[in-house]
Amino acid sequence: MPLPYSEKVMEHFRHPQNVGRIEDADAKAVEGSPACGDMVAVYLKVDPEGLRIEDIKFESYGCASNIATGSIITEMAKGKTLEEAKKITWKQASEALGGLPPIKTHCSVLAVDGLRAAIQNYEERHGLVKERVPTTVEVVRKRLKHVMNPMVGLDLVRTKSVKDIELSDGTVRVVLDLPSDHQFANNIREEIMEKIEPLWDVQKVIVDFAG
Ligand code: FES
Repeated sequence: MPLPYSEKVMEHFRHPQNVGRIEDADAKAVEGSPACGDMVAVYLKVDPEGLRIEDIKFESYGCASNIATGSIITEMAKGKTLEEAKKITWKQASEALGGLPPIKTHCSVLAVDGLRAAIQNYEERHGLVKERVPTTVEVVRKRLKHVMNPMVGLDLVRTKSVKDIELSDGTVRVVLDLPSDHQFANNIREEIMEKIEPLWDVQKVIVDFAG
């Protein structure tokens, strides 16, 4: 039986707005959903004076609901300041789409998480983070929960792929229980770098594959 999608969802799914990537983006984030293993990437161009989103694009590796939500939230966020865009909720997005089946809530949460993570990435890269909490092993582990192993569609922490996390003098070393010839080793390394490097007190990130 087909899922009861609203017309609006179908319209945004068939003709999604702002799809693609921004090559010279000012910020970027890839988020994965622990519920289904799907991913979404969000790219931002921000006016540094007014901190306003000038351009925004997304790539979805998720379902129709995720694509439709990505389309609607990028429309909602375009032209807004970072502070305003941060306040967009999955509930607003889902309402703007005429509702989503409850079983699909996590798909719109994923899109909104992607937007918030991209904003956070901008703030971290531009020294705009207000609360400068020192980075701990727990902070790093929390971020690794958002790095997926595309082979299994689950994050590194959940799949027990993180063997060790070491912190010393601004250097973070992540040791993975995965082989260095892992099919997605480069993608995983890049994503870890992208998630950990922007932390305000981190100078260097080392990722070792020791499986
Ligand atoms: Fe994964 Fe919708 S089922 S994003």
